[in-house]
Amino acid sequence: MNAVQTFKLTKEFDSLVAVNGIDLEIKKGELFSLLGPNGAGKTTTIRMLCCLLKPTRGTASVLGHDVVRVPFAVKKLIGVSPQDTILSERLNCWENLALIGKVHGLSSNEVKGRSEELLETMGLMDRAKDQVRKFSGGMKRRLSIAMALVSDPQVLFLDEPTLGLDPQARRNIWEHMAGLKGKKTILLTTHYMEEADFLSERIGIIDEGRVVALGTPQELKTNLIEMRSMVVSTENLTAEVIADLQSKYSRLEMAKGRLKIYHKDLDFKGIVDYLHSRGVTVYSAALEQPTLEDVFIQITGKKLRD
Ligand SMILES: Nc1ncnc2c1ncn2[C@@H]1O[C@H](COP(=O)(O)OP(=O)(O)OP(=O)(O)O)[C@@H](O)[C@H]1O
Ligand SMILES: [Mg+2]
Repeated sequence: MNAVQTFKLTKEFDSLVAVNGIDLEIKKGELFSLLGPNGAGKTTTIRMLCCLLKPTRGTASVLGHDVVRVPFAVKKLIGVSPQDTILSERLNCWENLALIGKVHGLSSNEVKGRSEELLETMGLMDRAKDQVRKFSGGMKRRLSIAMALVSDPQVLFLDEPTLGLDPQARRNIWEHMAGLKGKKTILLTTHYMEEADFLSERIGIIDEGRVVALGTPQELKTNLIEMRSMVVSTENLTAEVIADLQSKYSRLEMAKGRLKIYHKDLDFKGIVDYLHSRGVTVYSAALEQPTLEDVFIQITGKKLRD
């Protein structure tokens, strides 16, 4: 049985098709990331899986429980950190966590033990007694992640959990999530490509409500990037050489003695030899590995906007 399974899952808002027939299979214990440009349908998909929004068509189940027919069964198994954090501003960290614990039917001892652990992990212990309304954005987000984890759920939905976090806090959360791999099923969305690359076992890229690419980070990089690139650090490039390169290769970028050449079948040695033959000094030259960001931009044709 898969942890998350959808079949032609669709959500329409009037004439707008936000999610357009998505088929997803996320295995138990898998860390799966949904990537996609703003408005691609990531949050809408998560909201349907968390029983917060009714699908227009298609089905979805979490650990075999249908999200429309038995939402109460689904809600018992999941933890959610929504894109827009929902916290009680007048309560402190302990009280917010206790509230969620109560919803999940935990005893106060259980809640206390788990809260202590999570507040420590999220670096919130020294502010745990402060009302949430006094918190910074990043602190609220960290509390929101703690709230998703407090019931020790089997399936976690984290919608941009690390948005706006400082590098240290982000690393802490990555470490924690990496530690949950294999034990919990995690569906993550993020606009940070290095985060998706570092954490995900598989990635689904969605655009305009459809899954347009699916695979491990490595598979996406090897199979989808047609264009190779190399970076050359040079001196005394002439206009003539530049024009020559421009006519031969798909794309050329130049900045401060750094030349980047993109082409399908890039001939590394040929390029270096050519530059030498034209009297150009080459300090260094290296082929570049494609990144997940390259994949994202190639697939969706859009630049990241967050
Ligand atoms: N309640 C709603 N009513 C009408 N349209 C909505 C509603 N919620 C979302 N949409 C629309 O559905 C589409 C998908 O939105 P969604 O929030 O799922 O995108 P997303 O992939 O999460 O984007 P982001 O990266 O910006 O968070 C958008 O065009 C959005 O305007
Ligand atoms: Mg979203």
